[in-house]
Amino acid sequence: MSTAPASPSSSETPAETPAGTPAGTPDGTPSAPHGAAARRGPFRPGERVQLTDEKGRMNTITLTPGGAFHTHKGFLLHDALIGATEGTILENTSGQLYQALRPLLSDFVLSMPRGAAVVYPKDAGQIVTMADIYPGARVVEAGVGSGALSISLLRAVGDSGSLHSFERREEFADIARGNVETIFGGPHPAWQITLGDFQEQVLEQEEPGSVDRVVLDMLAPWECLDAVATVLSAGGVWISYVATVTQLSRTAEAIRADGRFTEPEAWESMVRGWHLEGLAVRPDHRMVAHTGFLITTRRLADGAVGFTPKRRPSKTGFSEEDLNAWTPQAVGERDVSDKRLRRVARDAASTIQRGALPPEEAQARRDAIADGGSVE
Ligand SMILES: C[S@@+](CC[C@H](N)C(=O)[O-])C[C@H]1O[C@@H](n2cnc3c(N)ncnc32)[C@H](O)[C@@H]1O
Repeated sequence: MSTAPASPSSSETPAETPAGTPAGTPDGTPSAPHGAAARRGPFRPGERVQLTDEKGRMNTITLTPGGAFHTHKGFLLHDALIGATEGTILENTSGQLYQALRPLLSDFVLSMPRGAAVVYPKDAGQIVTMADIYPGARVVEAGVGSGALSISLLRAVGDSGSLHSFERREEFADIARGNVETIFGGPHPAWQITLGDFQEQVLEQEEPGSVDRVVLDMLAPWECLDAVATVLSAGGVWISYVATVTQLSRTAEAIRADGRFTEPEAWESMVRGWHLEGLAVRPDHRMVAHTGFLITTRRLADGAVGFTPKRRPSKTGFSEEDLNAWTPQAVGERDVSDKRLRRVARDAASTIQRGALPPEEAQARRDAIADGGSVE
């Protein structure tokens, strides 16, 4: 689980889009579920737009006919943006300039409502590439948390793939659903969430050997090892994201001891921004130095015997003291109250681009996806 910087502040008024004003394709038809059409062309009512001022301060607004974006230095009418070309620069009532762009996935993820730490975009990129998530792949994921990683996985599997996400806390599932439907402009045809513990639910819901990729972001991925080995196809990739070296070590040793997997590989990534100003070109003074570690392995064919490392580590057993090092408190995970999560879930639901799909159509789409039907 990663830590992420504070969300950029957002100020907008009013937030609601009147019914019947779809944020759809340039010709006005509602966008496809994956949202590609809605990301092109002039700005439309119901869309989220990121305004950046000359000092680099960002605000995200939802375009509403008749609405206004207020700051202590004047206001900007939403109507001036509706129909404008993306990348337009506009002036508010007191001459402040704003650059208007659609938020990128990385902007959205860092500013969306969240109840738990999200997977940072740099790690989501690594996961998609190193776990070889491809269009059409059948992927299972747990836990869902705020849905940040689910968004990247859905982008990668596309409409023709499938992402089945498992989450043990209902409030997190609600937050994730709100965030996913906001960025894709409605329910995604490839996505399904199941409530409950991954290690139990996945065995009930997925056929043995039917899953191409397993992606875990949770405190104790080793508890899921048997379930992963059961549902993963031969040659399938399992990737886990963990925050501490103690979790990393226990996951690696569990994989080795099991024998049904290849030797695990682990790494971390660090991204350092650069300051660019004339000849003062240098690394930024500050950076996010640690988010998490990634560990991957692949499922061997049934009956194949895994290679045993030539030199076994001197200590692979785990004492009581070691086990205590993996409690949520010990790894720095804050306990989030149900009340707080319900509030964030309401925020996430209210940020869904209501203009993209009328609520009844969004519900019909969710039902069709849950029934395994196709969605236009
Ligand atoms: C850090 S969050 C995941 C964040 C998410 N990947 C994101 O990018 O927004 C960890 C989540 O795992 C869930 N979780 C932990 N163990 C689980 C299990 N065995 N099965 C299902 N969900 C689990 C927790 O409830 C929590 O929501």
